[in-house]
Amino acid sequence: MRRRRIYEGKGKVLFEGPEPGTVVQYFKDDATAFNNKKTGTITGKGVLNNRISEFIMSRLNDIGVPTHFMRRLNMREQLVREVEILPIEVVVRNVAAGSFAKRFGLEEGGRLPRSIIEYYYKSDELDDPLITEEHITAMGWAATQDLDEVMQMSLRVNDFLQGLFIGCGLTLVDFKLEFGRLWEDEEMRLVLADEISPDSCRLWDVESGERMDKDRFRRDMGGVEEAYQEVARRLGVLPEAGPLDLKGPKTVQ
Ligand SMILES: Nc1ncnc2c1ncn2[C@@H]1O[C@H](COP(=O)(O)OP(=O)(O)OP(=O)(O)O)[C@@H](O)[C@H]1O
Ligand SMILES: [Mg+2]
Repeated sequence: MRRRRIYEGKGKVLFEGPEPGTVVQYFKDDATAFNNKKTGTITGKGVLNNRISEFIMSRLNDIGVPTHFMRRLNMREQLVREVEILPIEVVVRNVAAGSFAKRFGLEEGGRLPRSIIEYYYKSDELDDPLITEEHITAMGWAATQDLDEVMQMSLRVNDFLQGLFIGCGLTLVDFKLEFGRLWEDEEMRLVLADEISPDSCRLWDVESGERMDKDRFRRDMGGVEEAYQEVARRLGVLPEAGPLDLKGPKTVQ
């Protein structure tokens, strides 16, 4: 049966789900960086990110952080609740890296005195500019109360993820979250949406300091596939099938 394609993004495709209010997220192997200026393929990434995000979202649901995740459907797809995505990317930082290190002229790798939350406006045309809470509330992207909730949830996610990853020998340097509005009989709830994976987190091996995330792709470091596989392996979610099977079908319906 052909499903209606709702949206094709850089890393995923969204299809209409089987029941109203649901969508299917299909995880692609496509990789982009620097807002589409660099594109490529990371073989098996979709399969691994589907598993990794499933695992993390499920554990977050377990500890009472509401998420869009319902269930994994197959190697590359998961069923999630359809939400109205807030046009904001929430970035939580524990260690200086990437644009943060650049902006403040810091060397990458310094632990921040406390976790820092940043907001970016989701706009490819504008290159996702850094914004403040004032911008968000004044532009009506989220109310002060909603933003408080987003901040509290983000810090809980950070605490949980830091513990989870340190148990796997990985330092959670920073990560990006997206939230959405879920309407249930006139009531609105904010839930965590999108994905949590090595595409959206910086993860450094505790022992060697090696990068185990999309920075390997951004910076042409090689060993990209292996890094994603290693993260999945350490989380205990590496699919049984061998690396060759990760290739899977390249085409989507
Ligand atoms: N539960 C959900 N309901 C509706 N939309 C969602 C949900 N979870 C994630 N999305 C949106 O689906 C898209 C996922 O695709 P992908 O991550 O490939 O997008 P992208 O290219 O990064 O684009 P964007 O700039 O919009 O994030 C994103 O736009 C994301 O905001
Ligand atoms: Mg995205």
